[in-house]
Amino acid sequence: MRSWLLLSILPLTQAIRIIQSNDDGWAEINIRTFFDALTNAGHDVVLSGPAENQSGTSSSDAPPKTVDADGCIFNSCPGGSPPTGSNATNPRLNYVNSFPVTSIMNGIDVTAPKFFGGAKPELALTGPNVGSNIGIQVPFSGTVGAAVAAVMEAGIPAIAFSGRSGDPTAWNQPTPLYSKIYAELALKITSQIVASGTPYLPQGVFLNVNFPEVTSSECNDIDDFRFIFTRVNPGIFSEKDTEWCGTNRLPTEYDIFFRDGCFVSISAGDASDKTTVDAARQKPVADKLKSILSCL
Ligand SMILES: *[C@@H]1O[C@H](CO)[C@@H](O)[C@H](O)[C@H]1NC(C)=O
Ligand SMILES: *[C@@H]1O[C@H](CO)[C@@H](O)[C@H](O)[C@H]1NC(C)=O
Repeated sequence: MRSWLLLSILPLTQAIRIIQSNDDGWAEINIRTFFDALTNAGHDVVLSGPAENQSGTSSSDAPPKTVDADGCIFNSCPGGSPPTGSNATNPRLNYVNSFPVTSIMNGIDVTAPKFFGGAKPELALTGPNVGSNIGIQVPFSGTVGAAVAAVMEAGIPAIAFSGRSGDPTAWNQPTPLYSKIYAELALKITSQIVASGTPYLPQGVFLNVNFPEVTSSECNDIDDFRFIFTRVNPGIFSEKDTEWCGTNRLPTEYDIFFRDGCFVSISAGDASDKTTVDAARQKPVADKLKSILSCL
């Protein structure tokens, strides 16, 4: 009787504490669609993103300033607003008028603990970025910069998501199809990592995930997609990758980007330099993701 009672109150998915950020701005529709998906899945989520578009600002960090006369992105806050602020009806949605790194760190250190009973987030999720972040773009990306800061400065495992389709879109516009698909795909990867147990990722590792184009005729159903384990950059002069899909050289993010089909690339990145992590730390990541990964 008692065990039956316990089972019946266990949540369907394991809910964890999540901090979200991006570089396109706190009011861009991709991060809001993903916020809703994570919240609906039962997670405890706080969003802390830049007040303005901070695309391409990498790992810059500076104290937040009063919002200029133009206001936050897409008029999501009035000109002259304070350096940090929240949505009036949902205080889990927060802006920080500075860089992506500053935004996520303010979320981790200041905002999230207020909702998490003083505790830190267990996982950091950035994006989905509007536009891909592959190979040589990775070091410049603010979406990656924020993810890496969570790992390096707070010791929180992080995943950076980017999607090829779409243009920057305000949160209060109708949700585009690609934004829904990217949120579902990002949730699927997140759920897999959470289900794999702690530590969610090896020490010093972040995941760099890139979604392909979504169109009305192709790659528009979550079941159309295949997930491929990749490396960030070509590895011609690098040490071997972990043994995977019958070789010890993983495909690159470029290989997947230029390939026809609905392929998602997932690289295990080294948060200390934003390159591919060594084989010893690729292996546990591949093991965690195994049940959703495909070979080419
Ligand atoms: C704030 O949240 C409310 C309720 O969810 C929503 O209607 C409004 O558009 C949001 N505004 C911003 C800027 O997030
Ligand atoms: C943000 O900046 C990037 C690069 O400067 C640009 O491509 C993008 O369109 C901008 N987004 C908005 C909403 O203006």
